Amino acid sequence: MSPTFQVLVRSITLEAAGVLSFELRPLDSQLLPAFTAGAHIDLHLPGGLVRSYSLLNSQDERHRYVVAVQLDPNGRGGSRAAHELRVGQTMGIAGPRNNFQLAEAAPHTVLVAGGIGITPLWSMAQRLQALGRSWELHYCARTRQQAALLDRFEALAPTARARVHLNFDHEPGGSALDLAGLQSRHAGETHFYCCGPTGMIQAFQAATAQRRRECVHVEYFASPIEAAVAGGFAVQLARRKTRLLVAPGRSILQTLLDAGVEVPYSCMEGICGSCEVPVLAGEPEHRDLVLSPEEHARNTRIMVCCSGSRSDTLVLDL
Ligand code: FES
Repeated sequence: MSPTFQVLVRSITLEAAGVLSFELRPLDSQLLPAFTAGAHIDLHLPGGLVRSYSLLNSQDERHRYVVAVQLDPNGRGGSRAAHELRVGQTMGIAGPRNNFQLAEAAPHTVLVAGGIGITPLWSMAQRLQALGRSWELHYCARTRQQAALLDRFEALAPTARARVHLNFDHEPGGSALDLAGLQSRHAGETHFYCCGPTGMIQAFQAATAQRRRECVHVEYFASPIEAAVAGGFAVQLARRKTRLLVAPGRSILQTLLDAGVEVPYSCMEGICGSCEVPVLAGEPEHRDLVLSPEEHARNTRIMVCCSGSRSDTLVLDL
């Protein structure tokens, strides 16, 4: 696990149907570690679950972190555990870490949010507004009742509020956001960001496929890519001078943990970046959504929770 520190659940707010936000404060008068818009933290929840959630508050705030969690009755238990938190409870968190960096100097920024995917994008909108940059936010939810943070938008100054566009496609007269039309209205230097359900991100990526890759940014809730668990290769731990065989059905991370090697991890599906390990030799089979295609091609880093190996041996800096 990543190193953790304790915070206090200072307040819990009902943000929308099934969505609670949690205001987390330090236990003492110290400031929390700084973060940048788009960052997430790992919540160490009761029951031993670790889940990553995006920070939704302004990066100018150091006295608190705010996350929002949508209850998923069919999920793996993280959202249920979070919704059982109570005001006054203490809990461990790790991070912050940012795999969804904001290009602050972009001439214009388009933010596209689906459902609870609004959280990192709202932090970005606040940052862009504070910097006086040009931005617009397109927020999609089924209905107004299911859309979190609406009161934050209403509190914006009228000129900023005009930058927020709401799409409720399950309401009378509502329709899905026209992603192709949206992207066609913007110049090539505009940066596009999307966070939402997998289907929405895939539609967003298809709509923006002709844009320069460095101008298109996405963050997934869950990975649509299967983890590599074919096994049949070895990992050489250079610092420990140990060689471990990764058996079929096991990930590299599971193999390391079984051997008592402590590696930080959180999401277990290649989206949070906490299990990154330097690669000294060998060719990983990358299955994560954290590293860019260029970083994958360099083969100098691997997310061991989900990625495998194309070579017989991977030498890791562990
Ligand atoms: S644990 Fe999240 S990327 Fe591996």
